[in-house]
Amino acid sequence: MPTIKLPGVDLAFADHGAGRPVVLIHGFPMDQSIWAHQVQSLAVNYRVITPDLRGSGRSSVTPGKVTVEQWADDLAAMLDALQISEPVVLGGLSMGGYVAFRFFEAHRARLAGLILCDTKAVGDTPQAVAGRMEMAQRLERDGAQFLADTMPARLLAPATLARQAEVVDRLRQIILAGDRIGYAATSRGLAERPNFTPLLPRIDCPTLLIVGGQDAISTVAEMRAMARAIPGSRIVEIDSAGHVAPLEAPAEVSAAIEQFLRELERQATAARSSTGS
Ligand code: MLT
Repeated sequence: MPTIKLPGVDLAFADHGAGRPVVLIHGFPMDQSIWAHQVQSLAVNYRVITPDLRGSGRSSVTPGKVTVEQWADDLAAMLDALQISEPVVLGGLSMGGYVAFRFFEAHRARLAGLILCDTKAVGDTPQAVAGRMEMAQRLERDGAQFLADTMPARLLAPATLARQAEVVDRLRQIILAGDRIGYAATSRGLAERPNFTPLLPRIDCPTLLIVGGQDAISTVAEMRAMARAIPGSRIVEIDSAGHVAPLEAPAEVSAAIEQFLRELERQATAARSSTGS
């Protein structure tokens, strides 16, 4: 996987295909490989870029804390370094969705569309903040094994846990491959993220929401409410999936994204022909 030198970070990313750039951001504690199926199917028609966020996967680690502001700016710097100036479609799973909200806030002109997968707009409760701080300390002290042991049961749907042993195993491996200092910094940064709810009515680019019907972390009810708040957005519910829909129901997620991208191109072509440009 190539790595690009950006201010303060060596960012690892996969880059496949050609056409409109589609950037997909992973969740926590994960890396870009959760998008493997989507990369393969979308790269036939699009340029699909899947970075490891600072602190995750093969990207370098900033000890202490990394924030959504920093991650969003890293992505903008990555696009600059790749000389991508045309608007991109930005998708994010859970934590990746928080980064996408911040990217919208800070770099709106660079966006052609948003894909929000198993994510939420609200910030953390005081109890959740305390849990993240504790998790950060434990990661630094003990490493990521406890996350690999406990997170799959929270993140995945009961049906995935019962019937897709390879997905459970894959997720465990992804978690274990991460750096404990990077995860700790991520955990502290997530605790500080703002409440993005006031942003939702201001989102003025085509937006697709995808939610696993069994998602216990970003629930269907929560994501339906987000879809109602984002003007003109669409929501796709995938009954069998939990919080990691791209891994649990990969073909359905890829199909939903492909349909969204096709529609987006149709709209862009119609807008170009109506302005005569
Ligand atoms: C994720 O999947 O990225 C996490 O659930 C995000 C979080 O801990 O809020």
